[in-house]
Amino acid sequence: MSSSSGQAIDVEPLTLTRFILAEQKKHPHATGDFTALMNFIQTAVKAVSSAVRKAGIHRLFGISGIANTSGDEQKKLDVLANDLFINMLKSSYLTCLLVSEENDTTIVVEPEKQGKYIVCFDPLDGSSNIDCLVSIGSIFGVYRKADDEPVTTADALRPGTELVAAGYALYGSATMIVLSIGNGVNGFMLDPAIGEFILTEPDIKVKPRGKIYSINEGYSQYWDQATAKYVESKKYPKSGKPYGARYIGSMVADVHRTLVYGGIFMYPATSEAPKGKLRLLYEANPMAFLVEQAGGTATTGKERILELQPTSLHERCPVFMGSKDDVQDVLDMYKSFG
Ligand code: AHG
Ligand code: MN
Ligand code: MN
Repeated sequence: MSSSSGQAIDVEPLTLTRFILAEQKKHPHATGDFTALMNFIQTAVKAVSSAVRKAGIHRLFGISGIANTSGDEQKKLDVLANDLFINMLKSSYLTCLLVSEENDTTIVVEPEKQGKYIVCFDPLDGSSNIDCLVSIGSIFGVYRKADDEPVTTADALRPGTELVAAGYALYGSATMIVLSIGNGVNGFMLDPAIGEFILTEPDIKVKPRGKIYSINEGYSQYWDQATAKYVESKKYPKSGKPYGARYIGSMVADVHRTLVYGGIFMYPATSEAPKGKLRLLYEANPMAFLVEQAGGTATTGKERILELQPTSLHERCPVFMGSKDDVQDVLDMYKSFG
């Protein structure tokens, strides 16, 4: 640290780029492409963060909108975030195929700009929370193309076990990127003064058991018996104190809290939505990858999320993830109901 004006300045900040570069150096055959890809994702996240921070002001001119580049029209924040991610990823020359929550079909990158990575993303998650200034986020999962054949939609239908990296950006009281490249989980806070993400939460581990359950309890009449019994067991334990309930309604914020404080996040199947609500490719899988890398568990109640074989781009799956002992209680409950 050095100080010229009373303000401590870190003269050797451990930035996200520096961190990934150092990780890559451990692999003698690494090309540096992943570091470069992450730089484009970081830029998209910084731009979304800036737009999110300004949204309250722009709201004077149009609900949850922000002026587009022509200045005269309003773009919804989720559309703006999607455009940012797509444009940054395409112009990186490092991707060949993109899957976004906002696009019905895959986006195939122009052949002359193609690279080896496939990115599945939810550009803005928790959109129902935008207008009331509650935390929202972005989620991404990265695969490497498996062969040299021309790219097709099938290249994105890969189980989460094949992810090479996954992460999310949380636009909360601060902006943070939480990332795993298959070697643990690290959190990087955006320092707005220098526009860099700085390693502030090294080697995040989720505790084996927490004290919080997180679920949209309004839908309890639609739950299956296992979910209902599990939640009841946390509210009326045979011994000890009941768990606390927390539910933000933004998966990124709910999962981030789960990683930091422990506990369990759930979006189960319901009688109304037999596969739940959350999407496998760009919500459940990247988050399951992070939770497992932090020492936790992620399941549908019956199967490990990362082992699901996707059959379509926007398919859903039930989600239970977090502290391993808490998730084990859910698995035991599903077993007991057959
Ligand atoms: P999105 O804003 O990308 O459509 O996703 C919202 C998701 C997720 O963030 C959250 O966990 C869940 O929807 C909340 O759904 P309910 O309102 O049904 O609880
Ligand atoms: Mn979402
Ligand atoms: Mn979304």
